[in-house]
Amino acid sequence: MAQLVGSVLTSHVPAIGRAIAKNLQQDPYWKPFFDGWPPVHRWLEQVQPDVVVVVYNDHGLNFFLDTMPTFAVGAAPEYRNADEGWGIPQVPAFTGEQDLSWHLIESLVGADFDVTSCQAMAVDHAFTLPMALMYPSQAWPVKVVPVCINTVQFPLPSARRCYALGEQIGRAVRSWRSDQRVVVLGTGGLSHQLDGERAGFINKDFDLAFMESLLHDPLWATQFDTHQLVEKAGTQGVELLMWLTARATLGDKVAGVHRNYHIPISNTASGLMVLAPAA
Ligand code: DHB
Ligand code: FE
Repeated sequence: MAQLVGSVLTSHVPAIGRAIAKNLQQDPYWKPFFDGWPPVHRWLEQVQPDVVVVVYNDHGLNFFLDTMPTFAVGAAPEYRNADEGWGIPQVPAFTGEQDLSWHLIESLVGADFDVTSCQAMAVDHAFTLPMALMYPSQAWPVKVVPVCINTVQFPLPSARRCYALGEQIGRAVRSWRSDQRVVVLGTGGLSHQLDGERAGFINKDFDLAFMESLLHDPLWATQFDTHQLVEKAGTQGVELLMWLTARATLGDKVAGVHRNYHIPISNTASGLMVLAPAA
């Protein structure tokens, strides 16, 4: 059976794409952010994943407000990036791991998660930039399976539901008849709000409590409903649901491999964690 070797959790701000394009990794503004990544690269060298399941939220590139699935799973042979209007260079296309896509879809629908299956899908900054941070050469050494969770158009799925989805994704990966090694990448958050009266809102205390909870009390965030999460983390901070979903794939106990937290990158509190299933 396939092996789920761990999870990478990170923010996904578009400005990262511009910083990469302009080689600003050592610039004082960007250094504390990019300095978080070499330990992730060393960990990836060690665990040598073959496949990355990317749990992220599309921001209007593939799904727009007229058609918004709550949960969608990619089952395409290839995923291309496209211009989203942020003015950042596009990255090379990703190769899909279609056998795992269909196994995931069957396993999720079999467990009463009515996911939308997508045999064609464009991937936005929430997918491409975390992949570019993990693999700076952009010569992707892994195949991918995208899992999209709606955090753009209300009503959003609850933290409780996302946790359950993550648990089932974990079961599916571990029951995939393959000898491949799988990492689950969760992208979004941490606290940020891009518009409205509270534009620029960041909540460090909440972010740090959330990150800590992923290590020792992963169900902690499920006590909050969507409106409480918006209140605590900001309208776009609800993207932390991606982190929660990815964390839930690993089961009850995890080991913390690495973490970083830096305020702000653009309008966002940027967080980074690497978790591995407890031995
Ligand atoms: C920003 C953050 C996001 O999560 C996003 O999707 C777009 C922009 C920002 O802070 O600029
Ligand atoms: Fe976002």
